[in-house]
Amino acid sequence: ARKIILDCDPGHDDAIAMLLAHGNPDIELVAVTTVVGNQTLEKVTRNALSVARIAGITDVPFAAGCPRPLVRTIETAPDIHGETGLDGPVLPDPTCVLDERHAVDLIIDTVMSHEPGEITIVPTAGLTNIALAARKEPRIVERVREVVLMGGGYHEGNWSAVAEFNIIIDPEAAHIVFNAGWPVTMVGLDLTHQALATPEVVERIAALGTKPGKFVEELLEFFGTTYRDHQGFESPPVHDPCAVAYVIDPDVMTVRRAPVDIELTGTLTKGMTVTDFRAPAPADCKTQVAVKLDHGRFWDLVVDALERIGDP
Ligand code: BDR
Ligand code: CA
Repeated sequence: ARKIILDCDPGHDDAIAMLLAHGNPDIELVAVTTVVGNQTLEKVTRNALSVARIAGITDVPFAAGCPRPLVRTIETAPDIHGETGLDGPVLPDPTCVLDERHAVDLIIDTVMSHEPGEITIVPTAGLTNIALAARKEPRIVERVREVVLMGGGYHEGNWSAVAEFNIIIDPEAAHIVFNAGWPVTMVGLDLTHQALATPEVVERIAALGTKPGKFVEELLEFFGTTYRDHQGFESPPVHDPCAVAYVIDPDVMTVRRAPVDIELTGTLTKGMTVTDFRAPAPADCKTQVAVKLDHGRFWDLVVDALERIGDP
């Protein structure tokens, strides 16, 4: 099984990414780290531990990371994720405790204590922790198999006309991660806006009849309302599990190799993931972008993971 570190800011779709990573047998969750994003670090960390309880995740270290971006001031997303960061379902009090290490150190320790090429990093939030880890211990860059992140978009934006939330909240961190030299797969909005939780999808999840299934149903209900009211979507796009799904089964989406860089100084384009589609891509290009999702295959993976989790 492919080993992953999930770096997240739960967050409705982050919670579903955690459940997919835990329930799927082809990947192994070796650490979960949190970072400020959808809500404050304190809130998203508590949410991560509550989701761990719901999912029955007991033997994976969880660590809290950066409480603010590298350069910019904190920007959260209460319009989309509510005041708790995970509004909708009633959250149980966490039962497991945090690892004492800072997330940046847990990431470094995990990568360095595994063989080269063993660990894949899956960020589904701002890239603050990942950027700092790469700066603190540059040897992780060679050692990590790849970084598969949810963020950005080559044609679509959501936090500005051209920028996506996870990138615009800490563009300097994104700049470090995209230019570090490790392979990066950008699972951006062009892809995740295809991962819609349609009424049929919600129905399938509700029909599982389990507590985690009910939890996801309630998450999607809240997420559906905010996405309808604030972003004009008929069904909500469930971004973060797409990155996990790509690690499980690369055939769940098509990707295209292309250089990607992060705009830091544009007056209208701060945080844009500028993607160069001119052919042919340079031989040393280590970045690729996700293009087309197999919607049925993706939701089958999510439902299958929930079935396997059952009622822990
Ligand atoms: C991303 O932003 C967050 O609000 C979501 O959890 C997702 O990671 C989508 O732009
Ligand atoms: Ca997220």
